[in-house]
Amino acid sequence: MPGDILSDVFFDSLSSSTLGLDRAQTLPPACYTDGAFYEFEKEALFNHEWLCVGRESWVSQPGDYFTTQIIGEPIIVARTRQNELKAMSAVCQHRAMLVAEGRGNARGFVCPYHHWVYGLDGKLVNAPAMERTCDFDKKAVRLPTFGLETWLGFIFINFDADAPPLAPRLAAVADAIAPYDLAAAEGPPIMTGSFAWNWKVMFENNNDGYHANKLHQGPLHDFVPSELASFPPSGAADAGFLRFNGTTHPDASFNPTQKAVLPIFPGLTEIDRNRMTFANVPPTLSLVLGNDLVIFLILRATGPETMEQDTGVLVAPGAMADPSFPHRLDMIMTSAGKIIAQDMHVDARVQVGLRSRFAPRGRYSWQEGAQGQFNNWLVPRYQQTWRRLSGKPAPRKREAVF
Ligand code: FES
Ligand SMILES: [Fe+2]
Repeated sequence: MPGDILSDVFFDSLSSSTLGLDRAQTLPPACYTDGAFYEFEKEALFNHEWLCVGRESWVSQPGDYFTTQIIGEPIIVARTRQNELKAMSAVCQHRAMLVAEGRGNARGFVCPYHHWVYGLDGKLVNAPAMERTCDFDKKAVRLPTFGLETWLGFIFINFDADAPPLAPRLAAVADAIAPYDLAAAEGPPIMTGSFAWNWKVMFENNNDGYHANKLHQGPLHDFVPSELASFPPSGAADAGFLRFNGTTHPDASFNPTQKAVLPIFPGLTEIDRNRMTFANVPPTLSLVLGNDLVIFLILRATGPETMEQDTGVLVAPGAMADPSFPHRLDMIMTSAGKIIAQDMHVDARVQVGLRSRFAPRGRYSWQEGAQGQFNNWLVPRYQQTWRRLSGKPAPRKREAVF
């Protein structure tokens, strides 16, 4: 029965997913399918972790705003007249209409239903015909606000006001990808899609070095072979982890020429130019860093077996000014689209398989190092939250390196 899986035995069993990769098992299939587990996961992960919601460049001017949603929470990110970024709930504090949708530039947010007006900082500034309402203090009403942090041009929010800052826990990832100078990188508008699989199915596919030259075998991907994957170790305190994947020739790029067709990011070293880098900031951000193009994926869980994803690309500053840019980008995106279609076929079928009574707790190849690091990010959060919710004391802390 749904919900029955949440037990001490179940959460103890997750420890086998945190062993060294040569001994570890995959997570139980129910972690990807079960409605009660998803509700639990909201508290274990999404209510307390930093969640990527977009790019600073989407709100570059005072009054700019965009909306998004994750785990069913509608969110507004806005830049105030004082040039501060604010993240807040989009839910009107009158009768729960959404005060903003889409994106744009505004002086504030007028709820379409009864015209309550909120400032760009979320404070209620006007509420018509409320003068006869007893004990109604306009100044006490505001859209609930969230923590906000920016990292390499990405905006992260946190529903937990007491969450420790993110950037110090991403120092190793930031160091590794510093040559790309992502804060200064530019990009065309994103694409957003809805998908019928658990968010971890997609996150793991983005992480996965093992399938590179199996599922994607052929001239569009063979220059990034699985055997050239490596996984720098990460520790329990790290909020993200990396995969480096050597390429068979320098300046490789996902297009039929297999070579960069856009300007190479100017800060890249020889080492960077002979590999691709995959950076993961669970539970929402995956980066695929190539020489001439960075793909960013913002994953947004919407249910136990559904998610949305924003897919964007970033290029070197100035690259978009070249009149041939759209055509060169097309070369990459046409090839990348074929690769992504293979991945999505797998994601959809894996979700079907995970629902089966025959779905396994499988074993890993050494080329799945990032899956092990993902499990070592997930499982302690799951187990600690289960202990907290069930009133059990936490065990002594150990500082592990994976
Ligand atoms: S629901 Fe927003 S003003 Fe009534
Ligand atoms: Fe893939």
